Amino acid sequence: MSDRVAIVTGGSRGIGRAICLGLAAHGYTVVVAARTEVDTSAGTPFAKVASGTIHDTARMINDRGGMAVGIKCDLTREADIRTLVAAALERFGRVDVLVSNAGIDCESSVVDLDIDWLDRCLAVNVRAPLLLCKFALPSMLARKSGSIFGITSGAARAYRPGRVGYSMSKAALERMFLSLAEEVRPHHIAVNVLSPGRVDTWMNRHGDWPGTGHIPMAQPESIIPAAVWLAAQTATTFTGQVVERADFGLTWRPASPPSPDPKLSTGGCGEYPGRNNRRGQ
Ligand SMILES: NC(=O)c1ccc[n+]([C@@H]2O[C@H](COP(=O)([O-])OP(=O)(O)OC[C@H]3O[C@@H](n4cnc5c(N)ncnc54)[C@H](OP(=O)(O)O)[C@@H]3O)[C@@H](O)[C@H]2O)c1
Repeated sequence: MSDRVAIVTGGSRGIGRAICLGLAAHGYTVVVAARTEVDTSAGTPFAKVASGTIHDTARMINDRGGMAVGIKCDLTREADIRTLVAAALERFGRVDVLVSNAGIDCESSVVDLDIDWLDRCLAVNVRAPLLLCKFALPSMLARKSGSIFGITSGAARAYRPGRVGYSMSKAALERMFLSLAEEVRPHHIAVNVLSPGRVDTWMNRHGDWPGTGHIPMAQPESIIPAAVWLAAQTATTFTGQVVERADFGLTWRPASPPSPDPKLSTGGCGEYPGRNNRRGQ
């Protein structure tokens, strides 16, 4: 087991929960960050993919013998982001890995755009990942190590009807992290961006994503091998890259895939995903 600590945003459900479980299975202590503490999804449409709380995710990890804590954080609020990092440092003494996974959609044509919604999308998808880095980097810089990655979307690089705002946010996230990768390269910190493909989550089931229906839908766990591998990188081994989850093990293959602690295994951690589902939301 390692003593490394990871903060994962959007860990209450979906892709973020899978990343939390995957990192925990590889020995990381996980700080699960999102807003939901009480699940109210029962009986609502899409309850299966909408359900989940930060405490459920932490409990799943702790029940399997791992170490996790849920910390409530609204990523639109600077104070919450600052407190999240401070709480992780106070409790565990270090932050080795920062995963900016949380993201929200902004489905609208430009003429009908709700400006408050756009601002929220930019706050969660762009501003929050940058502020998380601002607050967590000092401890990484002091130890000259760390790995940061964000979850992007094919929409950053391809047209998705009704997604001008969302596409802008993901393109900004990519550029931001590629620039940050250069800024912190001399300090041995890796910064990368991972595109998950089309994944069976609330974001996908709730929204209407024309033009993506032909892409096979992956389960959230499919991201685990790529996420775990990225978490272990340094600026010398792999940094400044935007990579596709579906290409992991094909065009960006580690020398030896990480193996999970069998006690904490989620079932998908040791597997390489197939080459399908290249471009998702
Ligand atoms: N699903 C796909 O096909 C797909 C494709 C490409 C990219 N992505 C990206 O993958 C990432 C994860 O999405 P997902 O598919 O897993 O969607 P999801 O099931 O809707 O999960 C989104 C997560 O973000 C959290 N979140 C939303 N607003 C937040 C806020 N203000 N403060 C803190 N946390 C917040 C949610 O938690 P709370 O509601 O509990 O706060 C939830 O845990 C996103 O960045 C998304 O853009 C998804």
